[in-house]
Amino acid sequence: MKILPKVSRFLHGGDYSPEQWPSKQWREDIDKMEQAGVNALTLGVFAWSALEPEEGVYTMDWLGEVMDLLAARGHHAILATPSAAQPAWMSKAYPQVLRSPIGGQRNRHGMRVNFCVSYPYYRQKVAAMNTELARRFGKHPALVAWHISNEFFDPCYCSNCEEAFRQWLRARYGSLDQLNHSWNTAFWSHTFTDWSQIEAPGGTGENSCEALWVNWKRFSSGQYASFIRNEVIPIRKHSPGIPVTTNLMGTHEPLDYWRLAAELDFVSMDAYPFYDCRPEMLDHGIEHSFVFDLMRSFKRGNPWALMECTPSSANWMPFMKLKRPQIHRLGSMQAVAHGSDSVMYFQWRQGMGGREKFHGAVLDHTGSTQTRVFKEIAEVGEWLQKMTPVLGLRTKADVALLYDWENRWAIEAACGPTKDYKQYVPTCVAHYKGFWSQGISVDVIQSTEDFGSYKLLVVPMLYMLRPGVAERMEAFVRDGGTLVATYWTGLVDEDDRLFDTSFPGPLAPMLGIENEETDILYPDEHAGVEALPGNSLGLEGGWKATTFCALIESKGAEVLARYTSEFYAGSPAVTRNLYGKGTAYYIGFRAGHDFHAAFYGKLATQLGLQRALEAPLPEGVTVQVREDGESRFLFLMNFSGVEAVVELGSVNATELVSGQANVKQVYLEPYGVEILRVH
Ligand code: GLA
Repeated sequence: MKILPKVSRFLHGGDYSPEQWPSKQWREDIDKMEQAGVNALTLGVFAWSALEPEEGVYTMDWLGEVMDLLAARGHHAILATPSAAQPAWMSKAYPQVLRSPIGGQRNRHGMRVNFCVSYPYYRQKVAAMNTELARRFGKHPALVAWHISNEFFDPCYCSNCEEAFRQWLRARYGSLDQLNHSWNTAFWSHTFTDWSQIEAPGGTGENSCEALWVNWKRFSSGQYASFIRNEVIPIRKHSPGIPVTTNLMGTHEPLDYWRLAAELDFVSMDAYPFYDCRPEMLDHGIEHSFVFDLMRSFKRGNPWALMECTPSSANWMPFMKLKRPQIHRLGSMQAVAHGSDSVMYFQWRQGMGGREKFHGAVLDHTGSTQTRVFKEIAEVGEWLQKMTPVLGLRTKADVALLYDWENRWAIEAACGPTKDYKQYVPTCVAHYKGFWSQGISVDVIQSTEDFGSYKLLVVPMLYMLRPGVAERMEAFVRDGGTLVATYWTGLVDEDDRLFDTSFPGPLAPMLGIENEETDILYPDEHAGVEALPGNSLGLEGGWKATTFCALIESKGAEVLARYTSEFYAGSPAVTRNLYGKGTAYYIGFRAGHDFHAAFYGKLATQLGLQRALEAPLPEGVTVQVREDGESRFLFLMNFSGVEAVVELGSVNATELVSGQANVKQVYLEPYGVEILRVH
């Protein structure tokens, strides 16, 4: 499904700030777009003071002129609402508009995303601004999408937000007795006797009540969701049929992006990976594949948009290392491989002053079209043009991996079982790598999504089981699904209260085990694990367990592997339990890629999971698929610094960009990428 009804090509372009330039420059900058194979600009992201220089006085002609220039050349505009940076006059006249970071003391004016998400006046002003913009430009021929605000960031901790939080808690818990019980506030005399006693967590305030933290973040995510809704209402009214999005930042911890995504027509994301051609780049590549699959999963497999990446370097990075030749092409194609229908940049034209004057741009401060960067962008533009048949295609995944924001907050808020080595997100990515390296597509979903369409559900460290999740997992397995859970799963309910049964709580019967204790090893220690001879998965060999070693007892599950060291040598480390028509596995220890490759390799074969190609892939190479019932495209990407050859076996394919037919094997240069059309 296409995300932009008015567009039948990949969007290629970037943020442009005409308000930073004299008007005579606009035509010149827009004239250069075609040479770069660029067809879209995002306008107005931080333009409030140019759109409403004083309260109630709207000055939008300049924006109209730029949109007309784009339309005249057949280019597209993504129009941003300017709420990410309120103007100085507003902060001065209405100081409550300013955000309060953790601790609750209001910021002064400046920076960006420096507004209070709950303040009614700001919501009204944003709605009024969006009404003006949508009335004026909502049906403009250049307009293809609305870009709500920019990179929503962090909760606001001001007194307005605190009061809204109390109201939200009243609605959620009904009574203080219920809240006190759910949060176990009798601990350290934290019992609340009046709603007014509840404050935002953090700073010099409450830091020892995990349920408060988790609920504060739930509430704050909801505030941002309703902030977006408030922005979108006038747009939908005056600009019907033009989809809305906002730019997300991957797995950004403070906000539950599922809540934000639900308000949007399509999801978009800003990606700034450290693609520096060092050995670690492989892991950064895998992390980004994971995040891109998350973007795809927000809208159940529909395409999304890469809204920003840098054409060369990003000035906020500790080192502004330039992207080596062709690295940008790899990063762009990677986003498309995982479902993006665009490659957009921050920024089209470098500004002459301000904090981002050294940030990479397609046009540098001189506006030259002869730079290395400009030429590489033009090449990506050519590729994207040839890739039009990929537009709108989806990815079918047999596997879902759970990455759950609420669970992450709860894990991070908990005091124990290790301070710095909980590593929830890296653990999810480590399991994901087991599939990435086999060319098996994965959806990345939260625990409340539907599991029904998957063959395999991977559940790393699902410490918090939200209501109904255990029951749905059980039903999934009973009906024939396969589930893999790990250590530190099934410990607490949605209020961070421990389950009153053995771990993994309500999942224990399905997994056929009980987890009595978990040993946490120091970073320089490990325990041994070995496969049991003749185990039903065919696992062989031994591995290292680091940090987490769950001590488990089988309650009917087959033991596939056991510990070989520590006082728990001989006890189960990996188990398999037949349950209903399905199977539930438990991995009791933190494993490395050698274990994940072996374990998920065996499982993939046993379950007949669809691989992009049958032959094993060279190290550092992945293959991702976009398809529909008729067309199938393979994206072969090499994230290693050595060349690689990929055998296609019986696949009959044509190289999409070069047009070469009957390809039997693909040579990938270091960091190379090829796209194949499969017949
Ligand atoms: C973010 C923002 C942009 C810009 C870039 C710089 O993604 O959305 O406005 O600041 O970072 O990398």
